[in-house]
Amino acid sequence: MHLPHHMKRQAKDEFEAWAETYDNSLLHRFMFQPSYRMFLQELQAWRGGVTEPFDLLDIGCGTGSLAAMLALSPLPASVVGLDYSPAMCNVADRKARQTHISDGVRFVSADSEHLPFADASFDVVTCSNSFHHYPHQQAVVHDIRRILRPGGRFMLIDGFRDNIVGWFVFDVIIGAVEKPVFHAPWSTIHTYLQAAGFRDIRRRKFNYWFPLLLTVGTA
Ligand SMILES: C[S@@+](CC[C@H](N)C(=O)[O-])C[C@H]1O[C@@H](n2cnc3c(N)ncnc32)[C@H](O)[C@@H]1O
Repeated sequence: MHLPHHMKRQAKDEFEAWAETYDNSLLHRFMFQPSYRMFLQELQAWRGGVTEPFDLLDIGCGTGSLAAMLALSPLPASVVGLDYSPAMCNVADRKARQTHISDGVRFVSADSEHLPFADASFDVVTCSNSFHHYPHQQAVVHDIRRILRPGGRFMLIDGFRDNIVGWFVFDVIIGAVEKPVFHAPWSTIHTYLQAAGFRDIRRRKFNYWFPLLLTVGTA
């Protein structure tokens, strides 16, 4: 594992610099947005048909794409996006106001390791393509469990590095470009969720450009 402060500093610098052009990147179009579509499928399967509003926290929300996609869906979600990079939050906030979806949506700049929310505040916590930047992944999962209501869900998507293609893409290439990052193997992610008290832990591997892994646990 790399030095925690170095990992966080690198992530912040990378996304502060990328924020204004992030939405135009090919990765955003072909990897990050499809990941969010996977969350929408999961949410639809879980909450579709239920009219009661629910509270969703998206950790590592980037430029707020999930909030925008939810606003176009029939799912009655109230959304908080949290990101370590203030520049990403600013872009997300600006987009929400420009597209008139800012009611029921807010963005908070904070570290995933210190979630500024009371116990049992959310029904769903999502996190996509961000977890590999966290130096203390187990601690983050524990804190996510704390802020979820009983029966709430944690949905995590990140690079799947347990086959040869995934290992090459995430450990070798992205590891070299974005370093320092850590794409945890599925067995480790499973252990994180189990240790934090999640139940009904399941996974789903899917492919867009690269192999990705969705993990879901119930609080
Ligand atoms: C590749 S982007 C993914 C953004 C968004 N989830 C998406 O799919 O478009 C990773 C995001 O994680 C954020 N991030 C990195 N480390 C973080 C931390 N410790 N706490 C919260 N957010 C963090 C970055 O600032 C960045 O916006």
